[in-house]
Amino acid sequence: MKGYLISVEGSDGSGKSTQLQNIIAYLQQKQVDLVVTREPGGTTLSEAIRALLLDATYTEMTAKTEMLLYAASRAQHVEQKIMPALQQGKVVVTDRFTDSSIAYQGYGRELGDMVEKVNEIATGGCQPDLTIFLDLPPQQGILRKRQEQNHTMDRLELEKLAFHEKVYAGYQALYQKQPNRICCIDASQNVENVFAQIQKQIDALLGL
Ligand code: TYD
Repeated sequence: MKGYLISVEGSDGSGKSTQLQNIIAYLQQKQVDLVVTREPGGTTLSEAIRALLLDATYTEMTAKTEMLLYAASRAQHVEQKIMPALQQGKVVVTDRFTDSSIAYQGYGRELGDMVEKVNEIATGGCQPDLTIFLDLPPQQGILRKRQEQNHTMDRLELEKLAFHEKVYAGYQALYQKQPNRICCIDASQNVENVFAQIQKQIDALLGL
């Protein structure tokens, strides 16, 4: 039996967490043999690397170090958790995968093509069968966040916006290159409509 790898990508305010919960609930209801995981993380060692990556005190972290740590976390994750699950015919749903590195480190940090090369080594060529990209321009994502928290954007948040614009451009470029694998869903719609489109893609992939 063939396993399937499904990744979910999206930026701040795109509703990724809500849709991940919907996907998991749906697949559980369909009694799919499921592994749910996330990046960076998914194994004890990868979660330790995650803690390094997200620790705000490491302001000195260079773009290359960041890229290599994400890739190291991914290498462990693929070998220890994802590949064995796929070999057992399971459906693996991961919150982010290689596309995040290409968008954030390749485009956001402007490291370019080397990110793809390093990730080829890290994953051994393991690629999602389906990637759900929740498409929301960063300005709208931040607006959603602002409406939630009722706050005005400060200088840093504005600076972050420029970074997230580059990340977003990265996702667009990825989608242009691989429209068969990446399903781009307009995340400005309501939760139900977004999930209906995700469900259609999952049903088609898994024959549900
Ligand atoms: P997380 O708290 O999981 O954020 P989110 O809910 O947005 O997924 O933190 C993961 C952060 O790491 C997120 O800002 C995206 C970033 N990231 C990369 O820069 N490169 C990567 O390869 C991955 C997997 C994540």
